[in-house]
Amino acid sequence: MAPRHAFFKGQIVPIEDAKISIMTHALHYGTGAFGGMRAYWNGEQEELYVFRSLDHFERLLNSAALLRMRLPYTPESLTQTLVDLLRHEGYRENCYIRPLVYKSEETLAVKLHEMEDDLAIIVNPLGEGSYVNIDQGAHVCFSAWRRVDDNAIPARGKITGAYVNSMLIKTDAMLAGYDDALVLNEDGHLAEASAANAFIIRKGVALTAPITANVLEGIVRRSLIRVLREDMGIEVVERNIDRTEVYMADEAFLCGTGAQVTPVTKIEHRPIGDGGIGPITSQLRARFMDIVTGRVDKYKEWVTPIYSTEKVTSH
Ligand SMILES: Cc1ncc(COP(=O)(O)O)c(C=O)c1O
Repeated sequence: MAPRHAFFKGQIVPIEDAKISIMTHALHYGTGAFGGMRAYWNGEQEELYVFRSLDHFERLLNSAALLRMRLPYTPESLTQTLVDLLRHEGYRENCYIRPLVYKSEETLAVKLHEMEDDLAIIVNPLGEGSYVNIDQGAHVCFSAWRRVDDNAIPARGKITGAYVNSMLIKTDAMLAGYDDALVLNEDGHLAEASAANAFIIRKGVALTAPITANVLEGIVRRSLIRVLREDMGIEVVERNIDRTEVYMADEAFLCGTGAQVTPVTKIEHRPIGDGGIGPITSQLRARFMDIVTGRVDKYKEWVTPIYSTEKVTSH
């Protein structure tokens, strides 16, 4: 289903009215930044929960700053705007939320400074949709592409133009019959997947690439590191990961707002571990789903309830 409304140029408008000009700078040069967030419907509580809204908007504003945008928003004010939009739409199902900041000036000038910027938010109701068939696990390959480098386009932010890199990685993987691809950075170490961070489990230890390996500063990645350590007693090490370590892993999974926790059960022609979904991955995925649907008191500060929120404050 498509969104019915958008937050556009400072107000909630019908989606048909949220239009931009063909001259818009961001359309020509990829000079925008975006967020990808989820709201989870909890049927028992009749509540919709947005996961880590303040953190998502903080990252969005950081990405905007990389593009020299000056926006009159804070993570709190954007969360309040999102609450208003979600209430306006009135969804009672899982939703994908897409905030977008972009160079809205109508110019072809090759520069970032002294230009108009704008923000829009749209919400896509999801029903029961998921990223790949998570119950079977994903079959991935190593991409022939390399992950975009911090010295070319900042990899830690969600810059729209940089997603050409993700699209090349994902499209070539899908056309070759895989669900997704893992991508190496220019140093030859594992970075992440096309639009998700990646973990492997070896001998009971969870390994994930450090942020400095040109990975997105994933909010689910950060959340899972805490859950693995604190709730499951699993050691987590952020370090460079070689390609062959992935082949030798006992378990592997992708994580992110889209992927949630997606087990990887096969890489190219090699099963990961015994080819099934490993115990750490399944326990982590169950815990994550409980957290995002507002069922875990310890992590209540990570979720914003839409229908019972009075006013948004920082945590
Ligand atoms: C390239 C990339 N890496 C990782 C992630 C995961 O980030 P997050 O957990 O903040 O959704 C995403 C977005 O989902 C992404 O686009």
